[in-house]
Amino acid sequence: MNIIVTDTYEDMSRKAADIIAAHIKENPACVLGLATGSTPIGLYANLVDKCAKGLITFANVTTFNLDEYRGLTADNTQSYRYFMQHHLFDHVDIDICNTHVPDGVALDVDAACAAYEQAIQKAGGIDVQLLGLGHNGHIGFNEPSESFPLATHRVKLTQSTIQANSRLFLSADEVPREAYTMGIGTIMAAKEILVVASGSDKAAIVRDASSGPVTPFVPASVLQFHPRVTLVLDKDAASCLK
Ligand code: GLP
Repeated sequence: MNIIVTDTYEDMSRKAADIIAAHIKENPACVLGLATGSTPIGLYANLVDKCAKGLITFANVTTFNLDEYRGLTADNTQSYRYFMQHHLFDHVDIDICNTHVPDGVALDVDAACAAYEQAIQKAGGIDVQLLGLGHNGHIGFNEPSESFPLATHRVKLTQSTIQANSRLFLSADEVPREAYTMGIGTIMAAKEILVVASGSDKAAIVRDASSGPVTPFVPASVLQFHPRVTLVLDKDAASCLK
């Protein structure tokens, strides 16, 4: 793993945005895997800024988001589709038809998950997948469990994730109990992976994910088996690394 440690959240955001921007410049038709959560917000702001300045264009970029809450429509302000529109898609020159977020209200769950996988394949696979880290080591919404789920699937959220994500809802009762997520296999098939983490509350999971035992009980630990992973951390998130 390539580990980059920055002083501040802002530096982490700039560095990670530079890495994504370099991919877009090298291959303007690249396929990006995108993530939600508080951590990538600064990164997205930097990409919006670069696009406004004409340094990059999303005109030919295709995106696939990691996950979506089950039961939330695209226009629900808590949905990940809404998050992506608000933080990135509405502010860059991307063709909205080239943006993909799992459908939170799909009626046929199995068909929707299979179609998501097929769409990724049809696009030629993901060139660079952005990831945040859950406090319990989840990536996307792949929660700790006894095995690594391979493909896009429906998942029950753990109590700790419901609690952690409740800060963005009126109360924990409002947090959906289920979600759709790319599988660990989908994520590991990306040609390159970029992980961002910030803050001392992520320090222990950053350590466990990057140098602890590889186990599905810490889903992010599987990234140790990927040949091209870069972690961009602020110094607080890196504080438990040797
Ligand atoms: C959510 C998302 C994850 C994200 C995680 C961390 O649960 N499903 O994809 O990585 O939160 O979020 P944050 O960056 O807010 O800590």
